[in-house]
Amino acid sequence: MTRLNAPSVPADPTSKERLAARGLDYRTVDTADRDAFLNAMQAVTRGFLGPEITGAAVAEESEPTDGRRYLGIFDAGLAQPQVPVATIDSWVTPLSVPGGDLDMWAISGVTVAGTHRGRGIARAMLEGELRAAAGAGLAIAGLTVTETTLYGRYGFGAAVPMSTWTIDTRRAGWAGPEVDGRVEFVSREQLATDLGDVHERVRTRRGGEIAAWPRRWRQAAGLSTSVKDGDHVRGVRYVDADGEVRGALAYRVIENEREFTQSRLNIGVLVTENPDAAAALWGYAVQHALVAEVTASLRPIDDPVRWLVRDERGAVQTIRDHGWLRILDLPRALESRSYATAADVTLEVTDPLGLTSGTWRVRIAPDGGAEVTRLPAAVAVGAAGASGAAGAGDAGTSGAGDAGASGAPGAIAADIRLGIAELSAAYLGGTPLTGLLASGRIAGEPAAVAALDAALRPAQPPTLSIWY
Ligand SMILES: CC(C)(COP(=O)(O)OP(=O)(O)OC[C@H]1O[C@@H](n2cnc3c(N)ncnc32)[C@H](O)[C@@H]1OP(=O)(O)O)[C@@H](O)C(=O)NCCC(=O)NCCS
Repeated sequence: MTRLNAPSVPADPTSKERLAARGLDYRTVDTADRDAFLNAMQAVTRGFLGPEITGAAVAEESEPTDGRRYLGIFDAGLAQPQVPVATIDSWVTPLSVPGGDLDMWAISGVTVAGTHRGRGIARAMLEGELRAAAGAGLAIAGLTVTETTLYGRYGFGAAVPMSTWTIDTRRAGWAGPEVDGRVEFVSREQLATDLGDVHERVRTRRGGEIAAWPRRWRQAAGLSTSVKDGDHVRGVRYVDADGEVRGALAYRVIENEREFTQSRLNIGVLVTENPDAAAALWGYAVQHALVAEVTASLRPIDDPVRWLVRDERGAVQTIRDHGWLRILDLPRALESRSYATAADVTLEVTDPLGLTSGTWRVRIAPDGGAEVTRLPAAVAVGAAGASGAAGAGDAGTSGAGDAGASGAPGAIAADIRLGIAELSAAYLGGTPLTGLLASGRIAGEPAAVAALDAALRPAQPPTLSIWY
């Protein structure tokens, strides 16, 4: 399938008009014009609290990433009118979902200059991106966030939780198996290659991952000018008994100068293709000489390290949000993944942009395939999902009497009533619908919520091993 070329999608006309009324020009940055592109990157770096791009960094930073669409907002009245006061960039990437993958509109580089904050510029850009992506036919959008409170208002939900580990190596000890094969050092150039190769091979095994790009791995290997003390990055890889590379680890050791035996090893990126690779590379880190603590972030919430150490209380896990998703086309998103169990439920969805608003029937067959149909609001039905696997053929027009959450006279409440942010959070099974119900974030029949929740949960939780 040919993937949509994001740079061909123009800036959203509604947001363009809204910003023009305030004297701001919202437009695509011409990546062929390296000065214009570098100015946009100066704005992005400033927005994320980085230094001015100078010297050796200029060549690297004025190289756009292939297939990306960069937008800037320009204020002609300023001392530096060529530097955008706000930025956003996007591209189309495969998002792995249970049973396959789905093209996603990835969003990054969202910044608004300190001089222009609080005027609705970010809102105009985010709403513009979502309209543009939906208009271009994408079923879902995604991003990773600096602050958790920014994106729910646009319909994004925290869909892929990830974990951070702090391991007291002496207390935790090591109980992992001896594995065949070897762990060996590699150059940082080779490390970047190995990280990318292994990631690409495992990417589709779980929901939530996206394709990475070469610069992401060069940054992980400390080869990018944007990485401080990049030469402190060390790389090892695991090669199995057949000579195949099955895992790679980028790490730094932060020396404790007052007590050498108390140094810390920080795992930057660890990619593994099988349990042997996980045991070999975690074992290498946890048993490293002079290291009292190993830290790692962006690890899956079911990371095997918990069961590789002797005393799991020596390995402390902290879970937090990482990958955020926003469903744009509800039937297509839900029909693009497979499900763990059958279910038949009706959903009443609210959407701040109106893209997915309405009442929907979701029928999941025992083979894991879903069919989603829109129900006219006035004949929205209930109770179909309370029986979980049963009743896929039942149109469910019974049960009149309750007032629907939509408030339409005579309408019947759907089984589950929720916002698109909550449905997006639950989409890959990384956020339990049952927890959202218990917290009051969604409403509905507990049996229907439990049935859909069970269907959404894959055998392994979703994962997203990079920032973007
Ligand atoms: C976050 C940022 C993009 C907001 O830009 P902005 O133009 O000031 O935002 P807007 O004026 O459009 O505000 C949009 C909404 O977000 C809210 N908001 C803005 N900054 C927020 C913050 N830091 N935390 C929570 N909400 C925030 C506003 O209250 C407003 O809410 P409402 O429209 O629902 O009333 C800007 O502060 C920034 O560049 N920060 C540093 C870089 C960054 O963190 N980018 C996000 C990368 S994921």
